[in-house]
Amino acid sequence: MDIRGEVPQDYAAIQEVIRSAFATAEYSDGNEAELVARLRRSDSYIPALSLVAEEAEQIIGYIMFTKANVGEAIVLALAPLAVLPEYQQQGVGRALVKSGHEIALMLGYTHSVVLGSNQYYPQFGYVPAHTLGIEAPFVVPKENFMAMALRESKPLQGTMTYDAAFGIE
Ligand SMILES: CC(C)(COP(=O)(O)OP(=O)(O)OC[C@H]1O[C@@H](n2cnc3c(N)ncnc32)[C@H](O)[C@@H]1OP(=O)(O)O)[C@@H](O)C(=O)NCCC(=O)NCCS
Repeated sequence: MDIRGEVPQDYAAIQEVIRSAFATAEYSDGNEAELVARLRRSDSYIPALSLVAEEAEQIIGYIMFTKANVGEAIVLALAPLAVLPEYQQQGVGRALVKSGHEIALMLGYTHSVVLGSNQYYPQFGYVPAHTLGIEAPFVVPKENFMAMALRESKPLQGTMTYDAAFGIE
């Protein structure tokens, strides 16, 4: 399996991966593929952190990290992460998250923030975001709004501001 940055020729296959992964997901608003399209058009888009997992020339997984703010600081928002159902539970999601973190570190980012399963993300080092000084801009169980310090850095303190593409009021 290869992991690489997305290119426009991948967009249709990525949309299909997202659609089929979230069709059976526990939490989905059904708009994840459109969110990705909006994020690509936004200032928060980072092509080098929009990654596909590819096997035998088929795209089987996708992860996107985009720029967000906590006060004056720039952090990453991890969303979405999707693996084709027939390839789930085989380490594809883990490989995408870990590759993303390595690239994020090289690019100088200090924190990644995710709204998701507290059964899944802690294996990578994600902890409840408030323990790192990051508050959610919406009402959400504290254990599902998580963040990870990619390296030592100045403490953060503030509410996360997502790109307008997320449609968070
Ligand atoms: C969630 C998802 C991305 C995980 O990807 P994956 O490739 O299936 O997961 P991995 O094989 O890398 O899992 C790594 C570990 O996490 C565990 N795990 C996988 N999915 C999990 C879940 N939903 N909850 C808890 N643990 C999970 C695996 O059992 C594995 O543990 P192990 O190494 O002890 O066996 C994938 O199942 C998916 O696309 N789901 C639908 C979309 C979705 O919900 N995305 C997340 C939005 S926040």
